[in-house]
Amino acid sequence: MQKKNKTLGEFIIENQSEFQYSTGELSKLINAIRLAAKVVNHEVNKAGLVDILGQAGDTNIQGEDQQKLDVLANEKFIQTLKNREIVCGIASEEEDDFISINSQDERHQNKYVVLIDPLDGSSNNDVNVSVGTIFSVYRRMTPVGTPVTLEDFLQPGKNQVAAGYIIYGTSTMLVYTTGHGVNGFTLNPAIGTFYLSHPNMQFPETGKIYSVNEGNYIHFPQGVKDYIKYCQKEEGDRPYTSRYIGSLVSDFHRNMIKGGIYMYPKSSVAEAGKLRLLYECNPMAFLAEQAEGKASDGFQRILDIQPSELHQRVPFFCGSKKMVEKAEEFMQA
Ligand code: AHG
Ligand code: MN
Ligand code: MN
Repeated sequence: MQKKNKTLGEFIIENQSEFQYSTGELSKLINAIRLAAKVVNHEVNKAGLVDILGQAGDTNIQGEDQQKLDVLANEKFIQTLKNREIVCGIASEEEDDFISINSQDERHQNKYVVLIDPLDGSSNNDVNVSVGTIFSVYRRMTPVGTPVTLEDFLQPGKNQVAAGYIIYGTSTMLVYTTGHGVNGFTLNPAIGTFYLSHPNMQFPETGKIYSVNEGNYIHFPQGVKDYIKYCQKEEGDRPYTSRYIGSLVSDFHRNMIKGGIYMYPKSSVAEAGKLRLLYECNPMAFLAEQAEGKASDGFQRILDIQPSELHQRVPFFCGSKKMVEKAEEFMQA
């Protein structure tokens, strides 16, 4: 019988044996992410109170302005993981290059690398709308004890051993998978503890919500335009409802609970779309598949794509299985 009010800490310990090569290392890593999540949650929640909003003045590798909270969240996650000496390498959307940790230290036996989008949906920071953090974990390819190389990060998404997100919303949740389904934990901010609130999360097979930035409609490929018109057509259970927050994490989270599809297609002005394969699409695709959903670039499974660079972008269609399949039909017509 399921114990009531299970904490994330208890859940991690109980499920440790599920990990294929369990030495407790992945459990420790999830624990470190749990801690970083609480620290960033604290920063996000006080965003309206202190003068940390606005642009930090820097531009990230993608040429976008960095918000101060992006920088803060990036620092907090990297620091937490570094301090605990729990991973051998980190790649972040906010860093030009990957970071190698303790690579010269022979005693350093860590075998996992982490990739993060420290703050997703950052344009929503200063308007009090939900943002998130996305993380993705792989076993390194190169031998333990040697410095990590690019090869350790450029793995297809199907190699992920864990992935998840934190959503800083009306409540803060940590949702993750280690390849045994998806579980969601809600933070009780009064005592700083995450509780298992959403066991075994699953996308409904189909849904009635489509999420896409329709302002880009004119630039979309014909298949996407046709699919959007299909969503809007009065027929059967349609028209669908349009919901677009502009934070992938938040749009995904809602669609997983209610049933829906999220799309960030390529366009005539953005050849590969906007979302990053390694920091955004792969972890969300792993979660989607573990939650009975589907993730595609319109033509192939996201998790099968062999990455060629750290900050690579891909078109992204993700959500309820039947809806993604229908969008693919239109793309491939
Ligand atoms: P980030 O804040 O990490 O740069 O990601 C924002 C992403 C994604 O979360 C969101 O769905 C999408 O960009 C919104 O893009 P548009 O404003 O172009 O719709
Ligand atoms: Mn993002
Ligand atoms: Mn980001």
